[in-house]
Amino acid sequence: MMLHVPEVLSPDQVRRMRATLDATQWVDGRETVGDQGAQVKRNRQLSEHSPVGRELAKTVLAALARNPLFFSAALPARFVPPLFNRYEGGEHYGLHVDGAVRAVPGSEQPLRTDLSCTLFLCDPDDYDGGELEVVDTYGSHEVKLPAGDLILYPSSSLHRVHPVTRGARVCAFFWAQSMVRNDQQRAMLFELDQSIQKLRARLGESEETVALTGHYHNLLRLWSEI
Ligand code: NI
Repeated sequence: MMLHVPEVLSPDQVRRMRATLDATQWVDGRETVGDQGAQVKRNRQLSEHSPVGRELAKTVLAALARNPLFFSAALPARFVPPLFNRYEGGEHYGLHVDGAVRAVPGSEQPLRTDLSCTLFLCDPDDYDGGELEVVDTYGSHEVKLPAGDLILYPSSSLHRVHPVTRGARVCAFFWAQSMVRNDQQRAMLFELDQSIQKLRARLGESEETVALTGHYHNLLRLWSEI
């Protein structure tokens, strides 16, 4: 399931984050990929060891923790702390699939990448090209979102970032391991949760919404690994 999560960061948060990022030093994006990725990745990013990046990553994770739509869709168990990338002057990232397992800085336990996320820190008008293209069983989807918005998609999907031909595309990107590993089960839980919330908003709490909430939690209990 692909999901657009709007307004993860406020315009003010984006502005402050961009001011910090624009004043900092970027390194070759091939620092964090394996052999296949290194052949097709042409961009820059903040070093994984950058103290500035670590601080900004905390802001992103705090914003996600306050976002019920993200939580409902991702059911996150753990994150690789967000990294930050920048594409300009024709830079791009060719078709690839993200590595299945990643080390988590400061942890001995690696993470299984179930979900890939891109959080846009620039507006679509700021640059040409730079579409994130995700290929799944329903075809190919091109994504270019307003600053502060996030796209979430299964890490198993092939994807690419098209060349940026004008301006700069600046984003945060990260991976989550979900409590529910199976994408189809996770999507079903998300749809059930969203329907329960809409029912509750329309009709108030009732015997039926309580029963459906119980059903949701029993499915989550059945399918989650924590
Ligand atoms: Ni990728």
